[in-house]
This record gives sequence, C-alpha cells and structure tokens, in this order.
Amino acid sequence: MLSDAERTLADALASHGQSHVLRHADALSHADRKALFAQLAAIDLPLISRLVKSGAEAKTDYSAVKPAPYVALGTPAGAARAHGESLLRAGKVAVFTVAGGQGTRLGWRGPKGTYPATVVTGKPLFRVFAEQITAAEKRYGRSLPWYIMTSPLNSADTRAFFRDNNWFGRNPADTFLFEQGTMPSITFDGKLILETPGSLALNPDGHGGAIRALHASGALEDMQARGVEHMSYFQVDNPMVRIADPVFLGLHASGEGSSGEMSSKMVAKRDAAEKVGVFCEVGGKTVVIEYSDMPAELTNSLDAQGKLRFNAGSIAIHAISVAFMQRLTQGDFALPFHRAKKKVPYWCDTQKKTVEPAEPNAIKFEAFVFDALGIAKKSLVMETSRTEEFAPLKNATGEDSPAWSHQIQSNRNGGWLEKFGVKIPRKPNGDVDARIEIAAETALEADDLADIALPREIKSGEEVLL
Ligand code: UTP
Repeated sequence: MLSDAERTLADALASHGQSHVLRHADALSHADRKALFAQLAAIDLPLISRLVKSGAEAKTDYSAVKPAPYVALGTPAGAARAHGESLLRAGKVAVFTVAGGQGTRLGWRGPKGTYPATVVTGKPLFRVFAEQITAAEKRYGRSLPWYIMTSPLNSADTRAFFRDNNWFGRNPADTFLFEQGTMPSITFDGKLILETPGSLALNPDGHGGAIRALHASGALEDMQARGVEHMSYFQVDNPMVRIADPVFLGLHASGEGSSGEMSSKMVAKRDAAEKVGVFCEVGGKTVVIEYSDMPAELTNSLDAQGKLRFNAGSIAIHAISVAFMQRLTQGDFALPFHRAKKKVPYWCDTQKKTVEPAEPNAIKFEAFVFDALGIAKKSLVMETSRTEEFAPLKNATGEDSPAWSHQIQSNRNGGWLEKFGVKIPRKPNGDVDARIEIAAETALEADDLADIALPREIKSGEEVLL
C-alpha cells in the first residue's frame, strides 16, 4: 500500500517515464522502501526531463573566441604581494577545497584526500594541505579557516579521517566540512538507474555544485561572520598547490583588469594536444573552453612567433570573493550541467546483483565551477609555472599519476635547492634523479630555504626529507 505522498511521487515518475525505478519497491523492507522514496523525492524530475530532451549542449560560436589576456610569469608583483599579505594578516582569506569527486580514475578506495601523495613520506593530501595552512597561519599570525566540500558519498569517511588525525593539529572550529548535492545518473535513453533494488545511481553534481552548497551549508554565512572576503579555491588532487599565495590573492583583489570577483591561475600548455581547458575571451568575458569542445583549428593555431595562440591551460586554481558567491546564490541562479559518458554500476535483474560495466553505459550531469567566470564582471588570469604548482593525481598510471606527480614534486624541490647552491643530480631529460620532499613547515616557497642548513649535494637516487 502506498501512502498519499508515495502515490503522488509514483504518479510523477509515471508522467516522466521513470516508473521502472519502483519495480522492486513492493519487495523492499519498510525502511529500504522509505529510503528509496526519500531519494526519489529529492530528484528534480522536470529538470531531468529537460536535460534529457535538450540532448547535446548548446554549441559556442567559435568565430568570436579569442585567447584570454593574462599576467605573464615574471611580471613584477611587489605591490600585489604586499596587498595579498595584508589580506592574509587581516584574516580576510579562507581556504576552500573541493573534495566531493569520486576519484574513479585513480581507483583509490576512500576519499581522494586520504591518498598518500608526497614523494618520500607519502603524506595524505589532506595532511599536505593542513600543514601548508598551519605554516601560513604562523607566518601571517591569523587563522585561515578551511572549508572542504565533500559529497554524500564520501562525507562520513572524510570526517572520520579528520577526526582520526586529530584535525591535523589545527583547531577543529577552523575546519568546516559540508556536503554538495547529487544528480541521478541516467542511461543513454534517459532513464534513471537503480544501483540496488532500493537505491538509485547518484553522482555528486560537479565542482560547480560548490556554489549552491556554499550557500546551503551556511559556509558563506560563516565566512562573512569571520570577516573573510576571499577564498583560495583548489582541487583536492593537487599536492603542489600554493594555498596562500599572496601575489595571486593581491592581483585578484586589486590588480588591474580584475573585478576581485573570480580569478584564475594558468600554466602554458605542454603542447596543442594536452587535455586541459583553455582560458579564452568571448564577448569581453573570460571563460574556460574544454579541450574536447575546442575546434582543432583553434587548438592548433599559432601566433606570429609560432607559439600556440590558445596556450593558457586551466589548473583549477581560483581566488573567489565571498561577495561574488553571495551575488550568485541570490534568486534561482544555477550553473549549466555538462554531460559525461561514464561507467556506472547498475542493478541487473537477471543476474540479481550490481554489475560494474566494462564500457560507459550512462550519462552523469555535472556543473563546472569555471562556468562562473563568465558571470564575473571582469576576471584576471595569472600565469604560473607548472613545475611550481601543478602535479595532480588523476590517473593510476601514466600522465597525472602518482609516479608522475612524485617526479614533479622532486623537480620542484630540487630546483628550490639549486637556487641555494645545492648540487642536484639530473637525468638526461632534465628530471631530478632523486626523491626530494620539503615539508611546508620548512619552506612555503623557495626563498624560505635561505635560513635553513642545507646539504651541499644530493646523490643520484637519494631520498631526502627537509
Ligand atoms: P575531477 O573532475 O578530476 O573528478 O575532479 P574526480 O571525481 O576527482 O575523479 P574521476 O573523474 O572520478 O576520476 C576535480 C576536482 O573536483 C572535485 C574533485 O574532488 C576534485 O577535487 N569534485 C568533482 C567535486 O568536489 N565534486 C564533484 O562533483 C566533482
């Protein structure tokens, strides 16, 4: 027997062609059935139907796309640094990590932030960030509140990890964990998917879900109450990110060409084929165009010096103002959903079990945070060095794998040491031929090594921890 509310929901499902998700409902325990109906009640069925009907995303007019201007590496930044430092000293900066993803490519059981990331001691990503935050807090004499977005799929494990690690020695009141929303995955013909007889296949709603979640969780209000004006935004999988970068924060907050609403860091693309989004300008606005959407003639086009015209690769590091997020969360603003074909486990009635498909079988809808760039009044892009700041853990092997990231970490740390006269072994391709880790407590940037006792030489294959 269905309750009135369940009957209404069953009718809505029928009118949207989704009744199949109730096919096991009668056989479920009372509690499981209640849970299934609660999951279904949270789904915006008209939105799903609209997304199914709208098919592929609207195409951009690429004839109007230009490369976005950016502040090039090596541009003098003394004033920006001073301004960024004053923001940090005044407690106007918060740290914001998006950690709600599923990390399927890396294949790590558990939240990605718990992955052992550093090259010598294998510190988990969350510890790497926590230690950097602690070092910055000491330097600037103010707490840097840390906001971490999880998803309903990993929030309990994430919270347990922080608790088990005693909040990495920081005041628990300065770490704010909150959940993003989810979207149902759908089959290629637009049907909701059961993962078990009593639960749907849901996926986190993308890092763009951050905007709604920051508001809904009270995180924005909390920032405001603390006097925070800007967030330092980064993804959980980049152990090399500079969390409290005074130059970037200063340029963002007061640099020429910035509205102080949302700014970004970029690195020069390795080559035309590199699979990263690119900062472009469309109608006077800075936007990121994904590599998969960019027409080949633009991707490959060269400037008069023979360099890639569309060279500004996005590394998903932003500075975002609290006021901008508040502006976006007023009214019914929502970022668009992108669709991605993915392998989604599904309940197979004949095999009576959840099956892991070998090939993509479903569409996941995700919003992307960089779609907010085009809404900012003006947006600044700053170039940084790949070796200094970008070594993400995306894949289990090959490019952007742990081994790949370790090499970049050693390269960066070797470069820092060379600056102070330490002899560093290098391979023929220029890579550092040793494993070198530098803790945040020792140095947040190369110049911090000036006052440290350093070895004169590191030997080939040596492991060094500073
Ligand atoms: P990715 O796009 O690399 O996805 O996320 P992922 O989920 O970590 O990994 P795959 O694609 O399943 O292998 C980039 C960043 O955005 C966060 C991730 O946690 C990561 O920091 N993210 C992604 C969210 O916070 N929520 C999401 O819904 C998706």
